[in-house]
Amino acid sequence: MFGRDEAAELRDIWGRASDAAAMAVVPDAAAKNQALWLSAKRGSLQIGPAPVTAPGANEILVRNYAVAVNPVDRLLPVMGDFFAPWLTYPTVPGSDVAGEVLAVGSAVTRFKVGDRVLGHAAFLEKSRNRAAEGAFQRLTVLLEHMASPIPAGMDYADAAVLPLGLSTAACALFQAGHLALRPPAAQALPTGETVLIWGGSTSVGSNAIQLAAAAGYEVFTTASPRNFAYVQRLGAAQVFDYHSPSVIRDVIRAMNGKTLAGAVAIGAGSARACVAVAGACRGRRFVSMVSSPIPFDAAPAGWRRALWLAPALARLLAANASLAVRARRLGVKTRFVWGGALVDNAVGPMIYADYLPRALADGRHVPAPPPLITGNGLAAIQEALARLEAGVSAQKIVVTL
Ligand SMILES: NC(=O)c1ccc[n+]([C@@H]2O[C@H](COP(=O)([O-])OP(=O)(O)OC[C@H]3O[C@@H](n4cnc5c(N)ncnc54)[C@H](OP(=O)(O)O)[C@@H]3O)[C@@H](O)[C@H]2O)c1
Repeated sequence: MFGRDEAAELRDIWGRASDAAAMAVVPDAAAKNQALWLSAKRGSLQIGPAPVTAPGANEILVRNYAVAVNPVDRLLPVMGDFFAPWLTYPTVPGSDVAGEVLAVGSAVTRFKVGDRVLGHAAFLEKSRNRAAEGAFQRLTVLLEHMASPIPAGMDYADAAVLPLGLSTAACALFQAGHLALRPPAAQALPTGETVLIWGGSTSVGSNAIQLAAAAGYEVFTTASPRNFAYVQRLGAAQVFDYHSPSVIRDVIRAMNGKTLAGAVAIGAGSARACVAVAGACRGRRFVSMVSSPIPFDAAPAGWRRALWLAPALARLLAANASLAVRARRLGVKTRFVWGGALVDNAVGPMIYADYLPRALADGRHVPAPPPLITGNGLAAIQEALARLEAGVSAQKIVVTL
């Protein structure tokens, strides 16, 4: 249930649910927006009317037909104040959108009304921070440079699996200050270097494998044996079982005579493993860390959070300190990845404008992991988040709208 202040704030927003400027741009869509609101920091999720926001100069307004859920969406009501303290509430969560363009801003050149698009909804970024840019609503405002056309024949549900996984992978691989690899290209020449992607069957890993291979790097990855063929189809040259007690030794042995271009650490325990491998290899001793050394995925909601948080933060500090000591001893640099950072730098347009449209149309980049559609309508998103908490393996949970 909402508290009295939260309810009053939501009523205020619902009262403004039809923005006059937006009605002028999209008359028949106005007053039809509905959203899954997050009422307040550590608040609850509730469906209600939402304003229709006219797209700014470099933005498009999209009617969503499919959205995907990510670990961060589940974590936001529990830990949002910890990892995104700038967020203003109420807000609309969600990063992965696929739908049809309803209106375009005055400076938009790549899209027109009626186009089918996918995009990374940027509500969570400090530079954006507004409910209109969250995915879990009927109508979302997207930045033009964070959207790509969906090729003919591709379903909205397939397209929706891409954005946050793709963005996070791109941040780790291509940003200055991270691995800063060569960009992906239609016919990239082999670089002769190898990238290690720990956690290749995750959503982030599935995109990282494809991007690194498209940039001309040999890819080594890890997964459970049931997903070996899957990650190889995405472009991994060698795959190792991360459950095996000898996995670190196995990867180091396979790297013999090769040059490392860096590692991307995804999943629990991945940073320690990648640091150990990078410290034993020739080449670039750099690990881009996508997952926290202590998984926050299990953070409980409500009053139990306070009991859980202090020991979890203590474990996080200890794990970070021990990782830093180990990395320093082995001459390995580490850096945490923020998967939305590309919204504000050159990697965003490089991926969504320069690479993805042709790569998707040619089938060089496939939507992966494949969608698992768990329901239809905004009300199905909470169930989808619960399903994600139960765990997935090489699947992306999608809700159609
Ligand atoms: N920093 C950021 O901005 C950012 C952005 C997005 C995600 N993330 C984080 O990245 C991680 C992956 O997110 P996602 O949405 O891509 O995950 P996901 O698709 O939900 O992950 C499911 C996969 O995780 C794999 N897995 C589980 N434990 C693993 C481990 N210890 N090592 C390697 N793989 C493991 C499983 O592989 P098998 O089934 O093959 O065993 C399964 O396929 C999460 O920790 C998430 O919080 C961070």
